[in-house]
Amino acid sequence: MKLPDNARFTTVCIHAGQEPDPSTGAIITPIFQTSTYVQEALGHHKGFEYARTQNPTRSALEGNLAAIEGGKAAFAFASGMSATGAIAARLSQGDHVVVTDNTYGGTFRLFDKVLTRYGIQFSFVDTSSLELVEQAMTPKTKLVFVETPTNPVLRLTDIAGVADIAHRHGARLAVDNTFASPCLQRPLALGADMVMHSTTKYLNGHSDSLGGCVVAAHDEDVEWLKFIQNSAGAVLSPFDSWLVLRGTKTLPLRMAQHTANGQALAEFLERHPKVTRAIYPGLPSHPQHALAKKQMPQGCGGMLAFEVENFEKARAVLNRFRLMALAESLGGVETLVCHPATMTHASVPAERRAKIGLSDSLIRISAGIEDIEDLKADLDQALA
Ligand SMILES: Cc1ncc(COP(=O)(O)O)c(C=O)c1O
Repeated sequence: MKLPDNARFTTVCIHAGQEPDPSTGAIITPIFQTSTYVQEALGHHKGFEYARTQNPTRSALEGNLAAIEGGKAAFAFASGMSATGAIAARLSQGDHVVVTDNTYGGTFRLFDKVLTRYGIQFSFVDTSSLELVEQAMTPKTKLVFVETPTNPVLRLTDIAGVADIAHRHGARLAVDNTFASPCLQRPLALGADMVMHSTTKYLNGHSDSLGGCVVAAHDEDVEWLKFIQNSAGAVLSPFDSWLVLRGTKTLPLRMAQHTANGQALAEFLERHPKVTRAIYPGLPSHPQHALAKKQMPQGCGGMLAFEVENFEKARAVLNRFRLMALAESLGGVETLVCHPATMTHASVPAERRAKIGLSDSLIRISAGIEDIEDLKADLDQALA
């Protein structure tokens, strides 16, 4: 079995990073549940010494993720947050970072509450405006960290435009590609230096694993990430690596269905009389619809949001869903709904939520891959 050099994306997702197991021929990479490896003689081993440093199941996943994001190497971590932490560990005291003002709440919390204590400064900026990004850059800016589309108000950032600004100022660009997945958006091809994911979401895709990864385009970042992964030690377990490796095999199929359902639900919501605003980059009414078509040409994925008249109405709707489950997280095969202001983004102060357009009446949907008619029926009865 040999993956051709010019293999297409779907084929790469299924095969990259994996060979049949040399000792048995097993087509699926085994879960190497071991903490250490026996060495033949002092200084002679098979490339594996200790499970934090190397694990064959994790290596297979990392090879797979590097190929599907088009990077030099990938590193798998115990959560999306530890992946973001590994990118931030590239920084030193006194450095400045420009960050999308509307990131996942936990990203904001890590930067604002933890890393500022180490003398790193953050400017939270509406990165959908290249002008504002340019204005925020200082001689101390070492990193621009962008999330696009953002969680939960689905604002987009022009990745190629920001890459250009970051590089002109001698800074790196890292992109949180969790919402789009490499199926729909390729940040490294657009000029980003590093990409991170919460693999908990679309890459694993079945709501049964917590993890994260960083994919890097340049040798110096690869070396550093390898060092940090081993030094800080928040590695993805063999079992979780195996689950994500299984997940990426069906990523293109799942993303096609998530996208079809996301688009159909957004159109349904936009027409619904009880909905005051539907937010989805694939709707012509989205302020960055033109950028979405350019940057995410295959569609905008399964994440959408909508507003009803007020918080009380939002609560009533959320409590009436039958098929859609009220839960944090996203990107699984089943549809989830959540109330970001009190759930995923509760760690973001109220005035900041207001500034980024995250109102108390906003409901987020992670469209699963169920039959669209069942999803529409559930939404309709919840809104009735
Ligand atoms: C866009 C985004 N980035 C990062 C994270 C953090 O990932 P994890 O929960 O796997 O630590 C999340 C979690 O919801 C997310 O939605």
